[in-house]
Amino acid sequence: MAVATAVALLAALGGALWLAARRLKGPGVRQLHGGGNPSLMHGKTVVITGANSGLGRATAAELLRLGARVIMGCRDRARAEEAAGQLLRELRQSGSPEPDAGAGGELVVKELDLASLSSVRAFCGELLQEESRLDVLINNAGVFQCPYMKTEDGFEMQFGVNHLGHFLLTNLLLGLLKSSAPSRIVVVSSKLYKYGDINFEDLNSEQSYNKSFCYSRSKLANILFSRELARRLEGTNVTVNVLHPGIVRTNLGRHIHIPLLVRPLFNLVSWAFFKTPLEGAQTSIYLASSPEVEGVSGRYFGDCKEEELLPKAMDESVARKLWDISEVMVGMLK
Ligand SMILES: NC(=O)c1ccc[n+]([C@@H]2O[C@H](COP(=O)([O-])OP(=O)(O)OC[C@H]3O[C@@H](n4cnc5c(N)ncnc54)[C@H](OP(=O)(O)O)[C@@H]3O)[C@@H](O)[C@H]2O)c1
Repeated sequence: MAVATAVALLAALGGALWLAARRLKGPGVRQLHGGGNPSLMHGKTVVITGANSGLGRATAAELLRLGARVIMGCRDRARAEEAAGQLLRELRQSGSPEPDAGAGGELVVKELDLASLSSVRAFCGELLQEESRLDVLINNAGVFQCPYMKTEDGFEMQFGVNHLGHFLLTNLLLGLLKSSAPSRIVVVSSKLYKYGDINFEDLNSEQSYNKSFCYSRSKLANILFSRELARRLEGTNVTVNVLHPGIVRTNLGRHIHIPLLVRPLFNLVSWAFFKTPLEGAQTSIYLASSPEVEGVSGRYFGDCKEEELLPKAMDESVARKLWDISEVMVGMLK
């Protein structure tokens, strides 16, 4: 009995040490941090959607540290102001120079609810009036497997926020991106795109709703949109690339119910195996700032490397049809 207990304790201790070592080592993602160049983004203006939490927040922190003027497009001003305050405090504590408009680094909070086309239009209207340039647009915000809900304009929430809101946002900012070229668009998708399809006959999921399928469909739409946009932007010096961040410990799972008893185990596993937001944000930061991807467009990345897509994500006729329907849905074409 005593021997069995000792073996069990040793096994538990060994497991815990292994997990801790794995966590401390990290999943081996390249930590680029601007290649050690703290002024890589000086003079550049970056818009990040959903910048108050998770990957968007980590991306904002790093691009701010690299000297960018970062505009946080967030749906809740209070949450965004709180995140902005924390980011500035963390920057000060890290010993980086205080961002100020003169040096280039600056943090600006603006309201943007991607579940409302009028909010997207208001955000872009204000931005176009106030900003003389836009160097990088990062379409990062996302909703994951929420119960059936509709946006203000009557779209299924995940398709509405993850795809349609960003579709309108990008189109309204294209003129400024073109006049600021060379400029970049970075789209955050997910590997889960593999389980989605663009079912044109029920884009609002009124006939049936499956929350996993709808998330995957919206992330497939992100990829098809990026590739079609890259095709349309050829020769403009505006690039667009799409990425998957891996599995990252963020607030994305807010709609997933994990039973109370299982939660400690889930927390342990996610602590050990999921990426931190900073690790997960590396590919967004890379595509937004690295000279290595200058002029590269229409590609799909993970862990700062190009990856292959399934044929359904490269289907040009589906991408064109989705573009045309999206234009009508967001009111760009009547
Ligand atoms: N975490 C992962 O493992 C993972 C894996 C693959 C892909 N992704 C993708 O990564 C992106 C970032 O997600 P995350 O993991 O960082 O999750 P997160 O911590 O939940 O961040 C999502 C952000 O999107 C914002 N958002 C949600 N609905 C919005 C709306 N209607 N208008 C404007 N902003 C809205 C959220 O704002 P509030 O804070 O106000 O809700 C939050 O700032 C998403 O596109 C997600 O699909 C994440």
